[in-house]
Amino acid sequence: MATKNTDRDARITELYEQLIEIEQRLIPTGLHVFGRVPEGQERGDLLRMVASFDRPEHNVRALPKLIAEALGFDDYDAVLRESPANENRQLIDGIARESVSQFCEAGAEAAADWLNKRAGVKPEDAWPVFQLLAGISEKLASNHELESLMRALRGEYIEPGPGADIVQNPLVLPTGRNTHAVNPYSVPSRTAFERARHAAEALLRRYVDEHGRYPRALALVLWGLDNIKTQGEGVAQALWLLGVRPLRDGLNRATELEVIPLEELKRPRMDVVMTVSGIFRDLFTPTMALLDKAVRLVASLDEPLEMNYVRRNIQESRAAQFDDAVTRVFSNAPGNYGANVNFMVMQSAWEDSAALGDLFVTRKSFAYTRDSTGRTVEGREAPALMDDALSRVEATYQNIDSFEVGITDVDHYFEYLGGISNAVEKRAQARPAIYLADSLSPEAKIRSLEETVRLETRAKTLNPKWYEGMLKHGFRGVAEIENHVTNTFGWSATAGAVDPWIYTEISKTFLLDEAMLQRLFELNQYSVQSLVKRLLEAHDRGFWNPDEEVLERLREICGRFR
Ligand code: BEZ
Ligand code: MG
Repeated sequence: MATKNTDRDARITELYEQLIEIEQRLIPTGLHVFGRVPEGQERGDLLRMVASFDRPEHNVRALPKLIAEALGFDDYDAVLRESPANENRQLIDGIARESVSQFCEAGAEAAADWLNKRAGVKPEDAWPVFQLLAGISEKLASNHELESLMRALRGEYIEPGPGADIVQNPLVLPTGRNTHAVNPYSVPSRTAFERARHAAEALLRRYVDEHGRYPRALALVLWGLDNIKTQGEGVAQALWLLGVRPLRDGLNRATELEVIPLEELKRPRMDVVMTVSGIFRDLFTPTMALLDKAVRLVASLDEPLEMNYVRRNIQESRAAQFDDAVTRVFSNAPGNYGANVNFMVMQSAWEDSAALGDLFVTRKSFAYTRDSTGRTVEGREAPALMDDALSRVEATYQNIDSFEVGITDVDHYFEYLGGISNAVEKRAQARPAIYLADSLSPEAKIRSLEETVRLETRAKTLNPKWYEGMLKHGFRGVAEIENHVTNTFGWSATAGAVDPWIYTEISKTFLLDEAMLQRLFELNQYSVQSLVKRLLEAHDRGFWNPDEEVLERLREICGRFR
């Protein structure tokens, strides 16, 4: 009986933690309306996110950290590693939240004063944070988007600004500027390299916890925009997994590498296959060379095979030449973009799901490396090398870099991460473990794909706050709901990662509720038609097996469009 109670208590705690995680997940509650400034809770949430990171470039420390110290917790990082349901974490997060509300209502001075009374944070410590927030607040309120668009249409000059996310880099404000990328030679930045260590180690820890050993090889998806926003966190994660660090030359360019000794790394060097987007390839040419150099460097080390998986895998490779066996950086052919897996799924144009992974390889199997004479190879068709590299992959991974755009908001996540995971499944003859990380959250939490699909579904698709926010936009809002369902379906198609209950709940929420169906139908009948067809397709393809009654209803709704 005692054991039963303990089991029950553990299960309840776990459920409670999951509820808190869903509750605290930031979600967009509507689309961005061009020219409109964020207000109310949206503004407060943004400011709170900005304040939750150390910002050495502004001499500002993370607000929760200041609070934790003032309350006498010495090790905030340890508190962060606790679950969100942990009492101390809730206390600190609650105070941080309230102090930002105070700031929004009454300004910096009042907020610093409140924080001093509530948690004993010295006003001189809190002041820099709130001053930063005051500057951001002012810029958030001045929006030049429409004016800049008009200027652009007249062919006039638009002031430049960095391309990033407000939370990653508040200097992106004000919006409505001509965004520029980063200097590719500066990537990864020092901060990105430091931050990437947590994610890389957490990823390996998670895999080892689940499998009892390290993966033979990992496949990473790298995107251009993400690496602009994070100054190369994805790139830095790859370097950490390999166990090397970037070195800067006299011009402060990260063009060289240094090996992290095994004693310091305290684990084997991982083998990583990197598929990069066309945008990444165009923006980060020197970075691709750096990644290729990193793999070659690791392959050349005189280390035991069980501590250096690149060397171990090269020995097992089918490729006869060293230069071929060490090829790990792949992208589209020069001038080409995308894997097109998303289009194949959206158009229901596939029979066997392995066709989706094959398409990914067809599009992405161009090697970016060097030949035996040391000459750069920028895009050589090499499907056999990619097949060989993928045949040893046991884990696939991608970062999520913003709370606005997650894995069911756009079709590109299943196009890339779904596409490569599907390709691995056929080539390695086993489904890989598929992981994602919120590189945005201070603790860089790693989740499995299945967990992420559930979280996104609960926090967004099925959350009235999310869909009502979308429905405020009328026609477009219904299209967004339908997009989410199709993108969710994309994770069934490529990776079999969607629980059947998700399709049941989507049906109940949007189609089986007659009042909701009527609302959606009046706003945008075309998206309702696509939505019902997609749910029936999910059933036809065996992703979901609802009650006959539900199927009948869906078929009947579908019939209304004939
Ligand atoms: C990129 O930033 O590289 C990217 C963005 C959207 C889709 C695919 C790639
Ligand atoms: Mg697109």
